[in-house]
Amino acid sequence: MKLLLLAGTAEARRLARALAGMEGISAIASLAGATSDPAPLALPTRTGGFGGGKVQAAWMREQGIDAVLDATHPFASRIKARTARIARALGLPCLHLIRPPWRAGPGDDWREVESTAETPAHIPPGATVLLATGRGTLADFAPLAGQGRRLISRQIEVPDAPFPWPGGEYLAARPPFSLDDEIALFQRLKVDWLVAKNAGGAGARAKLDAARALRLPVLLLARPAPPEGEVVESVEAALDWVKRL
Ligand SMILES: NC(=O)c1ccc[n+]([C@@H]2O[C@H](COP(=O)([O-])OP(=O)(O)OC[C@H]3O[C@@H](n4cnc5c(N)ncnc54)[C@H](OP(=O)(O)O)[C@@H]3O)[C@@H](O)[C@H]2O)c1
Repeated sequence: MKLLLLAGTAEARRLARALAGMEGISAIASLAGATSDPAPLALPTRTGGFGGGKVQAAWMREQGIDAVLDATHPFASRIKARTARIARALGLPCLHLIRPPWRAGPGDDWREVESTAETPAHIPPGATVLLATGRGTLADFAPLAGQGRRLISRQIEVPDAPFPWPGGEYLAARPPFSLDDEIALFQRLKVDWLVAKNAGGAGARAKLDAARALRLPVLLLARPAPPEGEVVESVEAALDWVKRL
């Protein structure tokens, strides 16, 4: 059986390792090519966007894909929805692995918003804001720019272009980040507010623990709606699904 693994997360790397050693499965991984130097996967890997749904569907047919395991990031909603549609049209089994969101605990000061348009209502003028939301979404924070807010956008690879608004800056940094590193960074930058996606998982959690330790408020972007179809929350459940195919 030939499986397509849509990758781009730590979970996908774990799945690739497990699938590489699984009898009766030939799997190919796909990366969007969002970063120039991604951690290697234990499977043959194609890299780069497909160039749209039609091309993806044609590629899947040509490759003789029998099933799709989507382990992309919880906020990668376009590729998830599109892949679900393609799998349905081709009559292929398709599973989405979406790790559980983070939940606030004692000592956390989190506000969850559905959209970046809501951010200025929460974050006061003049605040120093660390946008730990990755690349691709910075333009969405235009409503937050101005009013003396200092916006710092942390990204793995920062663009060559200048920061889109006055008084803001890029910060190039490659995860993982430890709790101590995050605390030191927030103190050095004099961060007043942290903005993050509710990505869930352990890998990106340290920033929230640092915010709790420093009693900083956090604005969390809520999860996009899940795709239609079967969803599991763990690598183990996804591997069980593969074994049942
Ligand atoms: N969104 C995040 O916060 C985040 C965080 C960490 C990692 N990532 C990873 O980065 C990638 C892009 O995320 P996104 O939020 O930009 O996704 P998205 O909005 O759902 O998809 C945007 C486009 O990226 C391409 N794409 C996405 N995942 C792909 C994959 N695994 N293989 C081939 N093409 C893929 C497709 O391009 P075409 O239309 O050209 O086919 C898709 O239309 C994903 O693989 C995701 O797992 C995302």
